[in-house]
Amino acid sequence: MKLPVSTAPAPDAASMQCIACGRVQADPGGWYQCAACGDLLELIPPQAPSAATVQSWPALWRSRRDSRLAEDLSGVWRFRELLPHFPLAPRGIVTLREGNTPLYDLPRLARAAGVAAVWAKHQGMNPTGSFKDLGMTVAVTRAQALGAQWVACASTGNTSASMAAYAAQAGLRSLVLIPAGKIAWGKLAQSLDYGALTCQLDTDFDGCVRILRELVRRAPVYVVNSINPYRVEGQKIMAAEILEQMAWQSPDHILIPGGNLANSSALGKGWLELAALGLAAKIPRISIVQAEGASPLVDCWRDWKGEKLQPRPARTLATAIQIGNPASWKKAVRVLRSTGGECLAVNEMEIAQAKAEIGRQGIGCEPASAVTWAGAKKLIHSGWIQPGQSVMLILTGHTLKDAEYILGFHRGEIPGPESGSQAALAGLRHPPRQLPATVEAVAAALETAGRP
Ligand code: F0G
Repeated sequence: MKLPVSTAPAPDAASMQCIACGRVQADPGGWYQCAACGDLLELIPPQAPSAATVQSWPALWRSRRDSRLAEDLSGVWRFRELLPHFPLAPRGIVTLREGNTPLYDLPRLARAAGVAAVWAKHQGMNPTGSFKDLGMTVAVTRAQALGAQWVACASTGNTSASMAAYAAQAGLRSLVLIPAGKIAWGKLAQSLDYGALTCQLDTDFDGCVRILRELVRRAPVYVVNSINPYRVEGQKIMAAEILEQMAWQSPDHILIPGGNLANSSALGKGWLELAALGLAAKIPRISIVQAEGASPLVDCWRDWKGEKLQPRPARTLATAIQIGNPASWKKAVRVLRSTGGECLAVNEMEIAQAKAEIGRQGIGCEPASAVTWAGAKKLIHSGWIQPGQSVMLILTGHTLKDAEYILGFHRGEIPGPESGSQAALAGLRHPPRQLPATVEAVAAALETAGRP
């Protein structure tokens, strides 16, 4: 089937601004590039009302939790005063009740690491099991308002799972480009379940992005990768939700994983906007943690002072963040600079250990999320995070996203022998026991296991 190509400007275009040259322009759709210099765009926040109105928002947002309207039940649209005004009529919003995710206190981790507090904001508790749902509700709502028939993304698995779900909810078709053999099965299964046209390409994530970028010139697909500024608007709401859960107090440090670098950019954008409105008295240091084998931002930050990013092939078992050419690196550098954050890498052993330690708190997460705890421990050890300070980890994906990793870990196969001595992991591994089907065998196992 040959698809008709539309070059017409988007109706009801919202104003966007280029992050590099500052040019203000109408929503260009497509690849969301600046018409003048080709760099990334972002939506301009709505004009702030009076200080008194802003001060009334926290009570308004809280009160919406008792409402039965779809836009109030969503943890993103509940904060809609922070989103750019764009027409939602006539069909309303596309929502799966995203957001409103738990914030966990982890006192045992805090004690072990010697800091005042460790919290985890668990974005894996979203409807499709990752933070992507916060941005996807806004991007797919926009796609629907524009009359798009197809939405599309390149993905390491979570964006595609989320896009497929929201597209299905809206009655849109969805096109998924994923690197063959390089994403966790749980994520692939989701996009199949939600009815996406799922294409496994013989390349890596960065290769999938290149193909999508070319495809968007030829076919009328609406791209919902995180270069789409509506995605970032939804994801920035995480800052408001955390502040609300913390009674509008900020932690000293937030650690967030870095892959394509949109989530860290969104968190920073949200926090800075809330501070400008007077709703966040303090701005936490936002630090970005990457896997050692996929850490181009760490090189950029250390070797180029944030001025240049050298793409490179990426390799890590934390497949969600196996990205060598992150699209939003300039936005992420801006967040590191404006919040005074650090940028660091952790190795496969550190990721596996951190993931198991989070699992032992009874909450679990996917490997890419565990880089935050691995990074926090390093920064505590080096003294950059101090004993009296509080630390928040952004856990980005649900533990069941990558069950293969967990089974491999407990069988002693992950991380592989090339990652070095496994001694630190010994007490964290609990492989299943294969036993005869007798009470005696189970009782003996219980006795040798001792007390918890
Ligand atoms: N954690 C998880 C679980 C992810 O899926 C991703 C990105 C990240 C962290 C990094 O976020 O890219 O905004 O820096 N996953 C994308 C995807 C790339 O296609 O699902 P980022």
